[in-house]
Amino acid sequence: MISEEMRQLLATGSEIRTMWERSFELKRIHGAENVADMTLGNPFAPPPEGVLKALEELVANPPPDLHRYTPNAGIPEVRQLIAAHLHDHGLLPGAQRHHVVVTAGASGATNIVLRAVLDPGDEVVLLSPFFPDYPAHVLNQHGVPVVVPTTPDFLPDLAAIEEALGPRTRLLIINHPNNPSGRLYPQWLLRDLVEIIRKQSRKNGRIIYLLSDEPYREICFTSEPFTSPAKLYEHGLMTYSFSKSKSIPGERIGYLALNPESPAATELAKAFALANRILGFTSAPSLWQHVIARSLDAVIDIEPLRRHRDCLLEALENKGYEVIPPDGTFYLFPRTPGGDDVAFVSRAMESLLLVAPGSTFGHPGHFRMAFCVDQRTVDLAVERLPPARQ
Ligand SMILES: Cc1ncc(COP(=O)(O)O)c(C=O)c1O
Repeated sequence: MISEEMRQLLATGSEIRTMWERSFELKRIHGAENVADMTLGNPFAPPPEGVLKALEELVANPPPDLHRYTPNAGIPEVRQLIAAHLHDHGLLPGAQRHHVVVTAGASGATNIVLRAVLDPGDEVVLLSPFFPDYPAHVLNQHGVPVVVPTTPDFLPDLAAIEEALGPRTRLLIINHPNNPSGRLYPQWLLRDLVEIIRKQSRKNGRIIYLLSDEPYREICFTSEPFTSPAKLYEHGLMTYSFSKSKSIPGERIGYLALNPESPAATELAKAFALANRILGFTSAPSLWQHVIARSLDAVIDIEPLRRHRDCLLEALENKGYEVIPPDGTFYLFPRTPGGDDVAFVSRAMESLLLVAPGSTFGHPGHFRMAFCVDQRTVDLAVERLPPARQ
C-alpha cells in the first residue's frame, strides 16, 4: 500500500523518465543506432580532463578521511574554495565558507532550501515552463506550488508574478539559462523582478526568498554575461549542480549558497546543514567533494553543443517549426504543430524520435529536444523530424 499523495504523483509523474525507460525497450527491438533519443538532459560528453585527473589522483593517493562521514554542510576547505570561486567570478561577491553548503546535486539543494524555509501550506511560485521536478520538490516539503506562465518569448512576466506574490508566498524559484526554453534573462529584468519581490514582501509583512537554480550558467552561447539573481537580492539563494557543467549527473554533487548580505545568514546556514542531514542525504558524497575541490574551474567544451544547436535549429526552421533559439543550456523548446504536444510526441516515438512533451514542463503546446547527445543522434533526429506543415 502506498500513500494517496504518492499515488497521485505516480499518475502525473514525469513522462520524460517513463519515455527514457521506454527508450531502452525501443533500442533493444530496433537497435540503439536507429533510435534518436532526446528525452533526458543526461550529457553524452565525457567529463573534462581536469575532473578525471583529480579522480585518478584521489584513488591513487587517497587522503585519510576520503571514505568517512563529512560535516553535514560539507568539508570546510571545499566550502571555502566554492565561496572563493563564487566571489572571484562575480557570481556572489563577498561569499565566504559559511554561506555555502555542499549538496547531493541541485535537486538535493532545492529540497534543503525548501525544508529550511517553508511552513506547511506556504506557497512557492514557479515560472512555467519549469524543470519538471520542482512541483514534487515543493510538495515533498509541504509547500504549495503556484505556477505563473512566462511571456510568449519565455521571459518572466513581471505583472503576472506581482499578482501571484500573496501573503502565503515564501519563495520564488527562477532558473536561467532555462530548462527547457534555453532563455537567458537580461539583468534589467532580474533587477525589476527583485524590486517587485521587495515591494510585495513589505506589503505582506513577510520575507519572500528568491531561489536561483543555475546548473546551466556555464552553458551559454551568447556574448551576454550571465547574472545570478541571487546576488541582486539580500534574500537571494542559489542552487548549483556540477551535473551539466562537468558532465557528471550520476555522481550527485552540487551546492547551495546564500547572499552574504542576508540578515539571517547564520541561522539559514545552520538550518541548511541540519536539513541536509535530516532529509537523509547526511552530506554530499565525500569522494566527489574532494574531486570538485581539485577541479572547480574544469568545464565541458560547449562547442559541440553549439554545433548541435545550430544544426537542429536549421532543420526545425526548414521544416516549418516555430522555435526561439536557445541562448544557453542544451535544450530546444519548439512549438508543436497542431498544438497537442502529447499526441505529437507519441507520433514522433513511432518514427523512433524521442522528445519530451511541453505538458511535463507545465507548458503544453511545445516539445523539448535535449541535444546533449552524439552527432549521430542529431543527424538521426534531423532525418526523423516530421515536417510541421503536412
Ligand atoms: C533546472 C534544473 N535544476 C536542477 C536539476 C537537477 O540537477 P541535479 O542533477 O544536480 O540534481 C536539473 C537537471 O536536469 C535542471 O535542469
